[in-house]
Amino acid sequence: MKKLMAANWKMFKTWDEAVITARKLAELVGTVPDDREVLIFPSFTSLKGVSKELASKSSFSTGGQDFYTEEQGAFTGEISPKMLKSCGAVFGLTGHSERRHVLGETDEFIGKKTAYGIEAGLKVVLCVGELIEERKAGKVEEVVDRQIREGLKDVPRDIDPERISVAYEPVWAIGTGEVAGPEEIVEAHGFCRKILQDIFGEKANEIRILYGGSVKPDNCSQIISLDNVDGVLVGGASLEGESFSKIVLA
Ligand code: 13P
Repeated sequence: MKKLMAANWKMFKTWDEAVITARKLAELVGTVPDDREVLIFPSFTSLKGVSKELASKSSFSTGGQDFYTEEQGAFTGEISPKMLKSCGAVFGLTGHSERRHVLGETDEFIGKKTAYGIEAGLKVVLCVGELIEERKAGKVEEVVDRQIREGLKDVPRDIDPERISVAYEPVWAIGTGEVAGPEEIVEAHGFCRKILQDIFGEKANEIRILYGGSVKPDNCSQIISLDNVDGVLVGGASLEGESFSKIVLA
């Protein structure tokens, strides 16, 4: 199973800035190691530019940070998986903590999106993770269990495990510089694996579980070597080619 090294550019970068960063990243990375795959989630407006920039580079792909649950229609401001694919996207992201906690998305809606994204031909990365209050209240397992089960509720059980990934991103570690410790990561990822096994059986061992939350060039190689860590989802440190290339090659 290749490690998935993913960049979430959130609401940063104009078209030009995004294309220049992608170009620089590809130059600095050069040949992606055999056991790695690089994925960029740019903003919608720069998705096509970044996809084109990376099209000739092997082991690079792009994805949409969000999508709606219909192919087309009167849904002002929304975007469909079909539209993302027409801009070169192979992946889609669901359940990011900013969509859950800033935009108010529910587990139910995230579950619908995840299933629809898969049905529409995307590979989907479902994000889960607890708030600091939930961790302090000893509810990490309860929260992650609910978010994974609801998020994957309508995903066909016979799915190719390559097409679905889970990103464990403890909300308190996102953008704070406060990375989860190795024991916390191993414990949470082991728990995610168990839930996935319960849902999908043996093939759950081929579903990638990414870690996200203050991943940086200097902590990535340790994180990526932990049990059940099959990649990373990086925000702040993915915005510059220099730092993200170090993470990709860590
Ligand atoms: P940071 O790497 O900035 O903590 O963001 C993580 C994240 O939200 C990736 O989706």
